[in-house]
Amino acid sequence: MLKTVAVLGSTGSIGRNTLEVIAAHPDRFQVVALAAGDNVRELAAQIQQFHPRLAVLRTAAGCAELRRLLPQAPELVYPELLYGAAGLRAVAVEAGAAIVVAATVGVAALPAIHAALAQGVSVALANKEALVAAGTVLMAAAARGGAELLPIDSEHSAIHQCLRSGHAGELARLLLTASGGPLLRRPLAELAGVTAIEALRHPTWNMGARISLDSATMMNKGFEIIEACHLFGVREAQVEVLVHPQSIVHSLVEFADGSVLAQLGAADMRLPIQYALTYPERLPCPGMRLKLEEVGRLEFEPPSLERFPCLGLARAASRAGGGAPAALNAADEVAAAAFLAGEIGFAEIAPVVERTLDRVGAPPVPSLEAVLAVDAEARRIGKELIKGRKSA
Ligand SMILES: NC(=O)c1ccc[n+]([C@@H]2O[C@H](COP(=O)([O-])OP(=O)(O)OC[C@H]3O[C@@H](n4cnc5c(N)ncnc54)[C@H](OP(=O)(O)O)[C@@H]3O)[C@@H](O)[C@H]2O)c1
Repeated sequence: MLKTVAVLGSTGSIGRNTLEVIAAHPDRFQVVALAAGDNVRELAAQIQQFHPRLAVLRTAAGCAELRRLLPQAPELVYPELLYGAAGLRAVAVEAGAAIVVAATVGVAALPAIHAALAQGVSVALANKEALVAAGTVLMAAAARGGAELLPIDSEHSAIHQCLRSGHAGELARLLLTASGGPLLRRPLAELAGVTAIEALRHPTWNMGARISLDSATMMNKGFEIIEACHLFGVREAQVEVLVHPQSIVHSLVEFADGSVLAQLGAADMRLPIQYALTYPERLPCPGMRLKLEEVGRLEFEPPSLERFPCLGLARAASRAGGGAPAALNAADEVAAAAFLAGEIGFAEIAPVVERTLDRVGAPPVPSLEAVLAVDAEARRIGKELIKGRKSA
């Protein structure tokens, strides 16, 4: 039987890779809904290839443009077009998907992801910011709805795969690998002058702008620590980070007896995406195959908190709990956007996040509304701090 799939963020890096995986298995999957932000042309092409019954853009103007772009032919069946938050929610819970691939960036799709989990629709999650901001609320919704929450992040997919060889109670530590990003060997004194182009040039992965920049600051790895705590029920102290520049070992699990299992693969997101879509089965994958003889060396080293202060901030937010991780994500998004716009320097990203965290604290966040209120407050404070630095 065909598995019905909805994709939130279909025009992005993960979204496009997801559709490649689906196109490789036409006998397995059927796309029922696609949601994008503003890339109308790419969505129009996807609609003509996958024929979803629902398509969503960020704005009404985008939908009007999409109507103009879709060829008019009597034999073509057009999807229903919606926009904005209501559209994202419809993609997640009204299009009849058995699984929703959450591949948007930031918290735009957080209410839609929550709705899917609460209604028992499985979610394949790439959009880690949603779990960072609202992990407790989302995990509770998944437990209530009986929905499966499967990671797409290659590190968490690796851990998910390694954990299949032991019981939850036998788990001792998780070892998350990190490429180190483009600034791993850059002299510390030069970090203040790093440009946006340099910070976005990821050495091993081809990804969207936000995650590429978050990899350069290692905030991305900090988010992944928080994500791992929610997905696998561990404490922050049980999650180690290892810099592994080759990005071949995607992560490792240490069990109670000291045995360490790792998952290896080429740096190609189609494998973890397909794993989440086909779990518990494995199928041939259109992704690249690993040739260890070509890789040659696998290196590991501890990360420097002096070079990557965002990693320390994320650990502190994870320990503080409550609304602190939501504030961490929101402040990072605001600071990252300001850096990319040339408003602050690379070395100012971490201080903006730190001061925002100091001011927001860790208020209780028992509901999605409370999470979104912390998110809005942290954005307001972050922007105020950036404005203050510019005028100082
Ligand atoms: N890329 C990777 O290899 C990778 C690996 C692990 C985890 N992740 C995570 O996966 C998520 C997506 O990353 P990415 O690299 O694929 O990002 P990306 O290339 O920037 O794509 C983001 C997607 O979200 C859509 N979008 C943005 N705002 C939206 C809104 N308000 N409403 C609807 N759609 C919206 C974009 O649409 P438009 O382009 O049409 O505007 C695009 O389809 C992130 O959370 C990232 O951390 C990515």
